[in-house]
Amino acid sequence: LETHRPSPLWFLLICGLRCASGQYPLVQNVTVTQGGTANLTCRVEYNDNTSLQWSNPAQQTLFFGDKKALRDNRIELVRASSSELTISISDVSLSDEGMYTCSLFTMPVRTAKAYLTVLGVPEKPEINGLKKPAVEGDYITLTCITQGSKPAADLRWFRNEKEVKGAKEVNAEGKTFKVQSSLQLHVDRNDDGVAYTCRVDHVALALAPQQATEVLEVQYAPRVEIIHSLEVPQEGQYLKLECVSKGNPSPDPVMWTKDGVELPDLDRMIVDGRELTFTSLNKTDNGTYRCEASNHLGRSSAEYVLYVYDPNALGQHGTDHALIGGVVAVVVFVTLCLIIVLGRYLARHKGTYLTNEAKGADDAPDADTAIINAEGNHAHAEEKKEYFI
Ligand SMILES: *[C@@H]1O[C@H](CO)[C@@H](O)[C@H](O)[C@H]1NC(C)=O
Ligand SMILES: *[C@@H]1O[C@H](CO)[C@@H](O)[C@H](O)[C@H]1NC(C)=O
Ligand SMILES: *[C@@H]1O[C@H](CO)[C@@H](O)[C@H](O)[C@H]1NC(C)=O
Ligand SMILES: *[C@@H]1O[C@H](CO)[C@@H](O)[C@H](O)[C@H]1NC(C)=O
Ligand SMILES: *[C@@H]1O[C@H](CO)[C@@H](O)[C@H](O)[C@H]1NC(C)=O
Repeated sequence: LETHRPSPLWFLLICGLRCASGQYPLVQNVTVTQGGTANLTCRVEYNDNTSLQWSNPAQQTLFFGDKKALRDNRIELVRASSSELTISISDVSLSDEGMYTCSLFTMPVRTAKAYLTVLGVPEKPEINGLKKPAVEGDYITLTCITQGSKPAADLRWFRNEKEVKGAKEVNAEGKTFKVQSSLQLHVDRNDDGVAYTCRVDHVALALAPQQATEVLEVQYAPRVEIIHSLEVPQEGQYLKLECVSKGNPSPDPVMWTKDGVELPDLDRMIVDGRELTFTSLNKTDNGTYRCEASNHLGRSSAEYVLYVYDPNALGQHGTDHALIGGVVAVVVFVTLCLIIVLGRYLARHKGTYLTNEAKGADDAPDADTAIINAEGNHAHAEEKKEYFI
């Protein structure tokens, strides 16, 4: 009997098909956000009907061909053929992360490993340490915390829209990270009403960064100043003094005094809230006016020294001014006249005129002949033109 043994050539051919033509599994690493769905695909370029299998990091078989092996509703078959086995895992949790294996049951078994990375979604950030309201001069430490991120999230602080630097701290909590960032503030009145925002930047939030915002309320003692409506108050004029006060809580009402005592009770002098109005100034109104505002954090005052000028005295000053003005006017007038005269002079000498000197020079061999030529040749003189520029 003749036994039919495969020749070495035949063996090479088979191995050529199996080895070089790609009878081995191909996989890719997968990254998925917590709660999302991951597809695990295993491909074989050239396959006889050899079975494919997916198993999890704990070496449990998930699918053997199109047959489900592990009882887990989240794991489903997407596609099973001789050249592909794709399964999906939905509602992925951090514990699903790890190395998954695709096996091709040739002899020997060939495997490929795909790493499933699960991103931990950072929780909505929280800002702690706010004191509401704060008082000017307080030291405040705002702390922003976000938990559950994987990899660790980045936290950024913004004062209104402008970025400010915080001190970041990252702590591992199981597979995820707790990230916090602190901002030390020495608050003053300029921080009143300012919004501090803490923003979480994370690969799992690429499209929708999370943020938290707190608006500071800072209380501060009032600061007042007096705004006056006239620079040179004169007798008979209307004058308004406004006591502008800023403070939190709002210092209301303000108090007006004159030379340290209550305001005289005059019809011409009207107090309305922060405003003191003189309907018609009088010399007797001279004095130091003071307005004062206070809240529970302190008081502040401002002074205005009123000096009512005599319009007649001002009139003398006026004459001086008129005199100077007159002199200036005369100087300007004279200058203008000079410019006009000069302008007219120039205008008159601009244009065509006869040239006496050079006539005949063009066709004369020497100067003498030129002069001779010039005489009695005036008929042609107007042909030569020159311009005064
Ligand atoms: C998984 O595969 C299915 C079927 O091909 C597809 O509809 C789905 O979008 C895929 N999911 C992901 C997360 O790639
Ligand atoms: C694979 O199996 C199918 C049916 O089971 C058969 O028709 C096909 O010829 C087989 N392919 C190979 C390469 O053996
Ligand atoms: C897949 O992930 C593993 C583990 O993180 C890594 O060692 C390997 O290089 C990755 N492979 C590819 C093709 O990125
Ligand atoms: C200023 O007041 C005095 C006394 O109150 C009064 O006699 C005088 O007429 C007033 N002058 C003007 C300009 O109103
Ligand atoms: C007020 O000031 C003016 C300065 O123009 C002066 O002439 C007048 O005597 C002053 N009156 C009082 C009451 O001080």
